[in-house]
Amino acid sequence: MNPPEIFQHIARSRRVTRQFLSTPLTEQQINRVLLDAQHSPSNCNTQPWHVHIVSGHTRDRLSAALLDADNRQHFTADFEFDIDAYTGVFAQRAQDSGRARYEAIDIGRDDHAARLACLRHNLTFFDAPHVAFLFMPHIGDHVRSAGDIGMYAQTFLLSLQARGLGGIPQTLLGMYADTVREVLGVSEDLKLMFGISFGYADAHSASNFVEVGRAALEDSVVRHY
Ligand SMILES: Cc1cc2nc3c(=O)[nH]c(=O)nc-3n(C[C@H](O)[C@H](O)[C@H](O)COP(=O)(O)O)c2cc1C
Repeated sequence: MNPPEIFQHIARSRRVTRQFLSTPLTEQQINRVLLDAQHSPSNCNTQPWHVHIVSGHTRDRLSAALLDADNRQHFTADFEFDIDAYTGVFAQRAQDSGRARYEAIDIGRDDHAARLACLRHNLTFFDAPHVAFLFMPHIGDHVRSAGDIGMYAQTFLLSLQARGLGGIPQTLLGMYADTVREVLGVSEDLKLMFGISFGYADAHSASNFVEVGRAALEDSVVRHY
């Protein structure tokens, strides 16, 4: 394959991983991904990302703390996430992706217990051995730096994909920002956007074969001549 074909394959075959193997990555593997992501563009090259990589005992301790926070309904998001704010086509796409996800793993519409278990699987990082937490400092209304964090996250995800690894960005982890900061000893000044669990995808899990599709170009792009 030539470089455009290679890139096309990486970009179009990437999808999130929701079941990982416990096999840890080496420091070198993680560093290569981090160095790729470090090359992401940002407003005025400000590079506002502060990334905490969590593995081993700290990963286990943090997962336990997140499950405990969830049991206590101790939600401390730095940035709100309101699914009801999505209306029209956006709400439709969110519903469609949820349906595709639950159909793939054979969970019925009314099986609330199984759906809740799926949601809480976020808090065990879908069994991933590593998580990258993406924090940012307080800068204005956060919109520009949030865009930069998104750039960073996508480079991180594509680097994983190119290296035969899997990842999933998780807004849900940001719902417990105080818990994450406390366990990792992160200053209150750093705001949590989301986490990315990563590692080897379990090639046998149906969770990793969810096709959510994309809108047609005409629905997203307006051309001016
Ligand atoms: C910023 C961001 C946050 C996300 N948060 C979560 C999450 O908390 N839990 C989850 O299961 N999936 C999460 N996702 C995954 C999306 O649902 C997924 O990317 C989308 O359905 C498209 O699927 P694909 O990435 O496999 O193409 C998130 C994705 C992004 C970009």
